[in-house]
Amino acid sequence: MSKLRIAVQKSGRLNEDSMKILKDIGISIDNGKDQLKASARNFPVEVFYLRNGDIPQYLKDGVVDAAIIGENVLIEKGAGINVVEKLGFSSCRVCIAVPKAAKFKNIKDLEGKRIATSYPNTVQMYLDENGVNANLHIINGSVEIAPNIGLADAICDIVSSGSTLFKNNLKEVETILKSEAVLAVSPKLDAERQAILETIQFRIKSVLKGRD
Ligand code: PRP
Ligand code: MG
Repeated sequence: MSKLRIAVQKSGRLNEDSMKILKDIGISIDNGKDQLKASARNFPVEVFYLRNGDIPQYLKDGVVDAAIIGENVLIEKGAGINVVEKLGFSSCRVCIAVPKAAKFKNIKDLEGKRIATSYPNTVQMYLDENGVNANLHIINGSVEIAPNIGLADAICDIVSSGSTLFKNNLKEVETILKSEAVLAVSPKLDAERQAILETIQFRIKSVLKGRD
């Protein structure tokens, strides 16, 4: 019998809440943390622990059937992937920030400037919408340090509590989008696995209702 292959973030802010919602819907997983794959004991589900940024491609290829992932990651790299449930945790926003001392009236002030980001597609879309030309520097982590080391004039990254911006002397100036964790599904899902997914969706809905 087929198992539904669900990707979750291997480590990071989404991991804990992702495992909790699986547990809350009655899927128990023997989780040795170094395992990259684990089967549920009581349900036709396998969990894959993956890097956030890799998950959209795995979904597109049908290597995994579903994923618990931040909507922001799908917007950046997940064209063609369907979101079937919003999960109500890991809220954040994708923002542009500049040094506290910098003058900033509006997005046009970034014309010709350098923006460091891990979200190049998202920020480029936003710049295009606003008719602004800027130079993007793609970095994969610790983006907020870029202005302080002279690498960029602004950054675009996710903000949750705002503490990383604060510690790096940056101020949020534009909000590009708001995000939360979602259940996303591969376009290649087959009928047998679709049935398993529907059971899971049904259980998720009840759990989320109970959390309200
Ligand atoms: C994430 C994100 C921001 C920060 C936002 O970084 O890239 O830097 O969290 O959260 P806050 O507003 O609550 O401070 P993370 O700590 O995951 O590390 P990384 O950027 O090096 O991957
Ligand atoms: Mg960061």
